[in-house]
Amino acid sequence: MKLGTVAITGAAGNIGSVVREALRREAARLILLDRAPLRPEAENEDVRTVDLSDATAVESALAGADRVLHLGGVPDEAPLRDLLEVNVLGTHHVLEAARRAGIERVVLASSNRVTGFYAAGHHTGPHEPVRPDGLYGVSKVAVEALGQLYADKFGLSVICLRIGSFEHRPTGRRHLATWLSPRDAIGYIRAALTAPPSTRFATVYAVSANTRRFWELPDPTVLAYTPIDDAELHARDIPGTDLPTDPAAPQAGPYALPEFTLKHLRR
Ligand SMILES: NC(=O)c1ccc[n+]([C@@H]2O[C@H](COP(=O)([O-])OP(=O)(O)OC[C@H]3O[C@@H](n4cnc5c(N)ncnc54)[C@H](O)[C@@H]3O)[C@@H](O)[C@H]2O)c1
Repeated sequence: MKLGTVAITGAAGNIGSVVREALRREAARLILLDRAPLRPEAENEDVRTVDLSDATAVESALAGADRVLHLGGVPDEAPLRDLLEVNVLGTHHVLEAARRAGIERVVLASSNRVTGFYAAGHHTGPHEPVRPDGLYGVSKVAVEALGQLYADKFGLSVICLRIGSFEHRPTGRRHLATWLSPRDAIGYIRAALTAPPSTRFATVYAVSANTRRFWELPDPTVLAYTPIDDAELHARDIPGTDLPTDPAAPQAGPYALPEFTLKHLRR
């Protein structure tokens, strides 16, 4: 399936920069949005400086897009007010703009952190109840719920990617389970953007083919991408990988600790 015009929010970020470079060779046109200034790097790139809190600006920036990849947002633990404003309201603005413009497909950046409290020994699938490991995870639960609402109520086609740990290389023990390589990130995103329109709504984990992963890979009838990379090949470069892991410990590792959230709460 042809990509047509793809709008990418958060295009200046870690994932956005990598995906932008890959998709510019495949899409007819890229509309790149971020609140951080961007410069066009190819003839088929249009850049827009837009804050996701500005619904009107989001709508006019997305005009003409066939598909939207919504990556923009606060990517980690933060005060709930900020997460609600940027991640939740910002996603609402993107979905509203897509509804009003009749955009074919919206791909939402969710996170593995919506289920971070499942035990590391539990192989977790996308249909199990959420167990967010912090306020950031709660905001991504709301992002997924908004996507489901817009699919059910307004017939948009929405795919939520529960992104693992996007890193050029795995660097910590947890990454042996959670790593998402750039190559696999591009593969998942391309597959989500081009999945048939009959896919009205889906949530999948986007993780590399890590031997020690604790998330289900997508059902190929839902998302046609099989990941390639395995963090295990880098294990010898990561300190402490020979130590035993506790199968009862939360998948989120340090993110599940109270201190991780307490620093964003009033004492
Ligand atoms: N990197 C990961 O490992 C990972 C894991 C799970 C989920 N995710 C999700 O994927 C997405 C991209 O992650 P990333 O690592 O590239 O993050 P990033 O912080 O590098 O990029 C996010 C981008 O969003 C932009 N942004 C933030 N607030 C904005 C606003 N109000 N208006 C417009 N733009 C705004 C930032 O300027 C930034 O360029 C995020 O939604 C994140 O929550 C990332």
